[in-house]
Amino acid sequence: MAESMNGLHRSHRCTEVGSELVGQQVTLMGWVQKRRNLGSLIFIDLRDRSGIMQVVFDEPVVGSEGFAKASELRSEFVVAVVGTVQKRSAAVNENLKTGDIEVVATELRILSAAKTPPFPIEENSQTKEELRLKYRYLDLRRPDLQRNLMMRSKVTGIIRSFLQEEGFLEIETPILQKSTPEGARDYLVPSRIHPGSFYALPQSPQLFKQLLMCSGYDRYFQVAKCFRDEDLRADRQPEFTQIDMEMSFVDMEDVIDVNQRLLAKVFKEALGVEVPLPIPRMTWQEAMERFGSDKPDIRFGMELQNVSSVVADCGFGVFTGALEAGGSVRGINVKGQGAMPRKKIDKLVDFAKGCGAKGLAYLCINEDGTYKSSFAKFMTEEQLEALVKAMDGEPGDLLLFAADRDKTVWEVLGSLRLMLGKELGLYDEKKFAFLWVVDFPQFEWSDEQNRFVAMHHPFTMPYEEDIDKLVSDPGAVRAKAYDIILNGCELGGGSIRIHQNDVQEKMFEALGFTNEEAHDRFGFLLDAFSYGVPPHAGLAFGLDRMIMLMMGADSIRDVIAFPKVKDASCLMTEAPTPVEDVQLKELSLAITEKE
Ligand code: AMO
Ligand code: AMP
Repeated sequence: MAESMNGLHRSHRCTEVGSELVGQQVTLMGWVQKRRNLGSLIFIDLRDRSGIMQVVFDEPVVGSEGFAKASELRSEFVVAVVGTVQKRSAAVNENLKTGDIEVVATELRILSAAKTPPFPIEENSQTKEELRLKYRYLDLRRPDLQRNLMMRSKVTGIIRSFLQEEGFLEIETPILQKSTPEGARDYLVPSRIHPGSFYALPQSPQLFKQLLMCSGYDRYFQVAKCFRDEDLRADRQPEFTQIDMEMSFVDMEDVIDVNQRLLAKVFKEALGVEVPLPIPRMTWQEAMERFGSDKPDIRFGMELQNVSSVVADCGFGVFTGALEAGGSVRGINVKGQGAMPRKKIDKLVDFAKGCGAKGLAYLCINEDGTYKSSFAKFMTEEQLEALVKAMDGEPGDLLLFAADRDKTVWEVLGSLRLMLGKELGLYDEKKFAFLWVVDFPQFEWSDEQNRFVAMHHPFTMPYEEDIDKLVSDPGAVRAKAYDIILNGCELGGGSIRIHQNDVQEKMFEALGFTNEEAHDRFGFLLDAFSYGVPPHAGLAFGLDRMIMLMMGADSIRDVIAFPKVKDASCLMTEAPTPVEDVQLKELSLAITEKE
């Protein structure tokens, strides 16, 4: 029988009760974690979002009716307990914040009975994630998820107050927007009033925040829900949250300054972690050359070496062939792994192939200075020596080489480096290593679309000295774009925006849009700019990723209350679902078979 709250008020959360309250009355409410019956005494662990308090039921104190109710309690019952705080006589629990005290109940109310949950509500659950997500409301009772969501709330609060102090205005932008595909795929929403027309959910508030700059709001931010219909990964969800901002009358230094102070404040206040400022910077080119990645994890070395010039004249066709085709040969030195068994090396080769390599050449330097290698036979002794020297190879090292076009070589060695760094425990998992990556290329070539596409977005300002090359040599144009990286994860990114219509038009031309197409899609922005626009720039953090990294979680699913799974469905509500025919009719929509 569920009892009511009549006349009761919670006085504390479980772990807000400390030994200074010994002898006083408290009223606690929460869930029964577990019950132990010791005959004349019944103990329960009472749990709320703050933690656990031990409650004792002693028949002479709580009365026979209360004692009978206590003996009915089972895990996950929701209860209210009135009682007196006392020092624990024995069995002090060092693992509990409240381990030296307990509450002796004088009154018990069962507010709600509970079925046995399909999995135990406990920290570090071993339960399969699918089951946990089906019953997410139970999963969310677990202390690890509760800590994650409490941290998320705390961080959002710190960010809001920091940005408000810095003069940023929090302004909401529309969720129902015009579809301007360029970037990820849009989520579309059919219009009832305009049959055949659609809104798009925002991939980011990009255009609206730029318009706000045109309107003079000069510093904007928003905790913005964004939607992207892309393939999901551990750090990607179809809906996610950005801390989005834009500033007028600024250059890159101003944006970097505010945002690194923001990060330092968040990490200090929320985690007690000092972020040394300024955060180091690296150009995109250097990041690729040294780490094979535009989001390098700089917690460890094993940097890439370009050995193209060393192997240019060797007899190994795989190397010279790649060079002749305009590619490069690069390697990494896996220190002290020269005795790796052949089977394991074969696994590395397979891994490399999974990253797009045609193969992976290796050279083990034996302790006696001889080599075991997949290609040594194609090289002279001098050529091998020069190669080993270029790689800083010493007896006991394992050298791995990839030969291909730069993009592939970087991808392969960058991925191998990360995988080996993790497997060999080359870095401190608890460390936070921030890095700004700057000067991205303006465009990247899309094999799929057979054209250049914007690497960041079409509104990113190129370096002034590269503007001439926008149309004639797009591949060589550098962008005033910057990403903030934490431990090899892209935490955020932004850019200086184009605020000159002629540059913007050249940019659209380089992207292959006709004047008409550009005006069709982005006319409102170009028009706005023609009425006077301040130079402006901005950035957006992925809030989910930030919390994931702060909490050491494996996936952003662990820091989102109700996430979706790989196929973008919600296992709890089963969304997406078909809708009623009348709903479709109202929207003038018909469903066709998928080919
Ligand atoms: P960008 O596309 O780089 O930039 O996004 C900014 C940050 O948002 C996070 N993020 C995601 N997080 C979870 N799931 C996703 N699917 C996902 N996609 C992106 C990342 C990323 O760094 N408007 C620009 C910003 C600007 O120029 O001001 C933008 O959206 O952490
Ligand atoms: P193959 O001549 O294809 O038998 O390759 C000889 C060795 O070179 C093998 O160890 C392959 O894994 C390696 N290899 C093949 N293609 C490449 C490549 N593009 N880059 C690096 N190594 C390669």
